[in-house]
Amino acid sequence: MPPERIRVAVLASGRGSNMTALLDAAREPSYPAEIALVLSNNPDAPALRAAAEAGVAARAIDHRPYRGDREAHERAIDAALQQAGIGCVCLAGYMRLLTPWLTGRWAGRMLNIHPSLLPAHPGLHTHERVLEAGETRHGCTVHLVTEGMDEGPILGQATVPVLPGDTPDSLAVRVLAEEHVLYPAVLARHLAQMAAVPAA
Ligand code: GRF
Repeated sequence: MPPERIRVAVLASGRGSNMTALLDAAREPSYPAEIALVLSNNPDAPALRAAAEAGVAARAIDHRPYRGDREAHERAIDAALQQAGIGCVCLAGYMRLLTPWLTGRWAGRMLNIHPSLLPAHPGLHTHERVLEAGETRHGCTVHLVTEGMDEGPILGQATVPVLPGDTPDSLAVRVLAEEHVLYPAVLARHLAQMAAVPAA
């Protein structure tokens, strides 16, 4: 019998192209994850529509009714994850800062993709900042999520050159293409490691 696939949830606030890359990878029967749930804090996220069209359970848990109580919103997210039997979470353009409550609960089992070569350029507007700094290399990083934003242990990176005449948009396109390859590959590797070292 093939090994059981780990049920993975994707949290996305917007477009969802990384989510789609993960869904596409998981269509391969030998891929170690099944994308079992997509959650968004944004009811209008195109990611939710794309997930539903792909036949994946997709649900909005809007943060606004929680009126700034981040942990209460996260408790609702966590309840949905538990209910769906999720074993690992992938943040993919999820635009909420997480509290230590949620990051602690999913320690070692929550990944994020960030469009820079961390630890350089955490936060937003990475492509602009790379150009302003005159850098010649840029890229993306998949890392474990910890309390500090974009600070967790790095699981994998992909590098692209910064070319003469690049704009933030042209760089974004080049980096995004790498993200779509990197995220599924790093998730697969991480799940294999998780399976080898069962949680205490
Ligand atoms: C990606 O660049 C990702 O690295 C960042 O947010 C963007 C999300 O894009 N965290 P998409 O929604 O996956 O298309």
